[in-house]
Amino acid sequence: MQGHHRKYLLQTFGCQMNVHDSEIIAGILEKEGYVPARDPEEADLILFNTCCVRENPERKVYGRVGDLKRLKEKKPDLIIGICGCMVQQEGELEKIKEQLPHVDLVFGTHNIHRLPELLHQVEAGIKHAYEVWDEEREERDGLVEGLPVKREGDLKAWVTIMYGCDNFCSYCIVPYVRGRERSRPFEEIIAEVTELGREGYKEVTLLGQNVNAYGKGLPEKVDFADLLAALDRIPGIERIRYTTSHPRDFSSKLIKTIAASRKVCEHFHLPLQAGSDKILRKMNRGYTSRRYLDLVAEIREHVPGSSITTDLIVGFPGETEEDFQATLDMIRKVEFDSAFTFIYSPRRGTAAARMPDQVPEDEKRDRIYRLIEVQNEISLRKNEALKGRVVEVLVEGESETNPALLQGRTRTNKLVLFAGDRDALYGKLVDVRVTEPQTWVLKGELASGGEPV
Ligand code: SAH
Ligand code: SF4
Ligand code: F3S
Repeated sequence: MQGHHRKYLLQTFGCQMNVHDSEIIAGILEKEGYVPARDPEEADLILFNTCCVRENPERKVYGRVGDLKRLKEKKPDLIIGICGCMVQQEGELEKIKEQLPHVDLVFGTHNIHRLPELLHQVEAGIKHAYEVWDEEREERDGLVEGLPVKREGDLKAWVTIMYGCDNFCSYCIVPYVRGRERSRPFEEIIAEVTELGREGYKEVTLLGQNVNAYGKGLPEKVDFADLLAALDRIPGIERIRYTTSHPRDFSSKLIKTIAASRKVCEHFHLPLQAGSDKILRKMNRGYTSRRYLDLVAEIREHVPGSSITTDLIVGFPGETEEDFQATLDMIRKVEFDSAFTFIYSPRRGTAAARMPDQVPEDEKRDRIYRLIEVQNEISLRKNEALKGRVVEVLVEGESETNPALLQGRTRTNKLVLFAGDRDALYGKLVDVRVTEPQTWVLKGELASGGEPV
């Protein structure tokens, strides 16, 4: 069919790394001549970029891909693919072959660049073009270097600074599916962000599972603080964010660098995971609740007005009611601005999955409800303290929930809704007075007549 562009549908699960990987996958597909499809019916290729950090997203993928069997029977030329973290797990390829034999294409987190070749194999009639590597191959010096990228927006961009993770927190699958920790060369990151600034991007978020370990293993002697200090000078970029930082490796030098920088935002996402020292030890987190509180105090001293957010897990093996109370105690002491809360999900091959005293499901559920209730009160109280204050907002466009309003985020990463002229303000930093703080969002109005600042 001449002139017919093949269409792709790409569905992404999981964290920002996966979201950014999907931008690269979309870039590769469009270079191969594919264009986005609006729905599964018109797609020639349906691809799932998967996550396996908990069981839920995995189950969803098996369900959705299973449902596509019927569409594939109607449209035998439809290519169905699965990529991302889930397929990196041991035994997963066999499971896919057995339970989802209609899947044509599988590739792992280390072989994204092999997508064109694998697609050609499928198009040439090879039944199962499946390729998953355990580790990145030596002939490639980076995963993203030289690959096209189709970014989702024109204001905010993701920038990978490290791959993999070596921490082996006992509950976590990420080190098994993303491979060993590797830092991307300093100059390449600087070059990418410089180009983004030139293209008009206002905000970058640096990505890695443990960004404050940046620099280990690089020939040059640089660390994460040095990287932030260098990025702070790049023209055009107004805001620098990063995710995720590990509380164990958050140095005083880093806090001081952030305090002295102009563009690095006053938002600290520091996954606490649990409040009990016994559980933290069993999780292999490498800090105590005391050390965590000291870190929070140091941050608040040097970077006033900063927000602190976290990740929490309930129902880790051996967690008693008393241990859980220690988590509640910590969130009350720290007063997090917000928290992502998770029910512990045993992951195949991780140390915690083999630990005794797994907590019953109903107990885990009960604890997460209680945790969320306490945290929501704290989030609301923190936001209410902002009433009447003026905050700096990067205007991102219409609100997703109410198109009559504009939305944007504060430097502290709080979502703000306010009335204003989209075309005049898109991509600008504006001052907004907070009039109606809520648990998840700050409602406000333009201060100083909406003049961009
Ligand atoms: N590298 C990041 C987090 C990656 S996963 C960090 O260290 O903070 C994101 C969050 O998922 C984790 O912080 C943790 O709270 C949660 N998580 C990871 N494995 C989990 C599991 N097996 N069950 C429940 N939650 C989990
Ligand atoms: Fe998982 Fe821990 Fe690595 Fe984060 S630091 S990705 S929680 S092993
Ligand atoms: Fe999930 Fe992989 Fe991220 S397992 S959380 S998508 S690194």
